[in-house]
Amino acid sequence: MKILTIGDIFGETGRQVIKNYLPQLKKEYQIDLTVANVENTTHGKGISRKHYWELKSYGIDIMTSGNHIFANEETRKLISEVPDLLRPLNSNPYHPGPGTIWTKIKGKKIRITNLLGTNFMPLATENPYFALEKILNLQDWDLHLVDFHAETTAEKIALSLYFDEKNVAGESKKISALWGTHTHVQTADERILPKGTGFITDLGMTGPYSGVIGAKPEVIWQRSKYGLSAKMTPQKDNGQFNGVVWEFDDNNKLISIKRINKVF
Ligand code: FE2
Repeated sequence: MKILTIGDIFGETGRQVIKNYLPQLKKEYQIDLTVANVENTTHGKGISRKHYWELKSYGIDIMTSGNHIFANEETRKLISEVPDLLRPLNSNPYHPGPGTIWTKIKGKKIRITNLLGTNFMPLATENPYFALEKILNLQDWDLHLVDFHAETTAEKIALSLYFDEKNVAGESKKISALWGTHTHVQTADERILPKGTGFITDLGMTGPYSGVIGAKPEVIWQRSKYGLSAKMTPQKDNGQFNGVVWEFDDNNKLISIKRINKVF
């Protein structure tokens, strides 16, 4: 079983990279399931109905998100209409949409859960440890994948180690792989944790390469040097792709992690 997870798709450049590169990548690695974080797809904030269907047509199966998902009003309706777009499990309970879903691929039940961090992230209304523990009681999967949308490296490492510890030899894993999203900068620390969970601190971003985590630098300079408000505008260039391929054997054991970072 080969699962491709793609870091935050950002704006028009991100969508273009997916269109041009994803079919070739899926073929090269013989991918069975593609999961992408899409919270920045439409001009950096949320995902419109049009862009949701566009990404589906390029081959993305499951979409996760994070703190910006409801910045686009259209996303608030869309998420209740489609079966495969997640919002963080521990965001405000008023928010529509699921925080965990499952799908069946090659006879395996695969659960995908989306979580939000709390460090520098005011939107989480429930501690991510307690939110995830409730899901673990279900134990109804062959593979359980978690997108942890969080700002700090330590929070992501700590949570992954905590839940890796809960894995018991001979039982299906509490979590099979956990990847971080949100910082838009890929980390080079992919590894298999002691009890078999796959981990990377951040997948990185699929979007503009020359901007400031997706935005035009001039906008950020206005804010950070001159203290003036400035509307976030996506940078435009040829883009970059960031993601990871996780390979599991027939016994649901993680056997390899391949990190992909490509600049066009
Ligand atoms: Fe985010």
